[in-house]
Amino acid sequence: MRFFVDTADVSELDKLLVTGMVDGVTTNPSLIAKSGRNILEVTKEIASMVDGPVSAEVTATDYDTMIQEGKKLAAIAENIAVKVPLTVDGLRTCKTLSDAGTMVNVTLCFSAAQALLAAKAGATFISPFVGRLDDMGMDGMELIESIRDVYDAYPTLKTEILVASIRNTRHVERAAEVGADVGTLPPRVIWDMYQHPLTAKGLDDFLADWGKTGQSIL
Ligand code: G3P
Repeated sequence: MRFFVDTADVSELDKLLVTGMVDGVTTNPSLIAKSGRNILEVTKEIASMVDGPVSAEVTATDYDTMIQEGKKLAAIAENIAVKVPLTVDGLRTCKTLSDAGTMVNVTLCFSAAQALLAAKAGATFISPFVGRLDDMGMDGMELIESIRDVYDAYPTLKTEILVASIRNTRHVERAAEVGADVGTLPPRVIWDMYQHPLTAKGLDDFLADWGKTGQSIL
């Protein structure tokens, strides 16, 4: 399972890159707003920092303008994946850009039926939002299982499942258990994945015992 970082904050991304765990980045209009940066400038900077896909989202809602925006975003760097919403015009845009060789990430997916449409439109990635379904009292991860079943039933569909709206480490574990291709994780969740109280306690105990030996490896 590949890990993308869900951020438009280059300092947060920079801290994560040294871990070697980052396979790509996703952004959205809310994350760009939070960064306080110009979308074209920050997207270009992020795309130069990582080798993997960097999703940049269109903000138009009609096909013609989405195509113009998508082409402008795709021209920023070769590793840009144009992000479009799961609407009729968004999926038309997906088909046109995908046919032209551009990576497309279809976002705001909340059903397996929508995911099937996105795959038929040639999406590189489908982004189902698990956290927002959980917020409504549903089990967002059931959607990932359902999409996995649908895509696996049709091996000609090449769309990758990119689990989005991940809120905690259990979401990551469950996404991996059901065979999601990618998870896009807020930086905090990646740092949380390293943590376990028994790891910390075990290390404290080892170091305390080691200190009693008076030895040094170096
Ligand atoms: O980037 C899309 C998605 O990951 C947003 O997550 O937490 O705003 O629902 P969230």
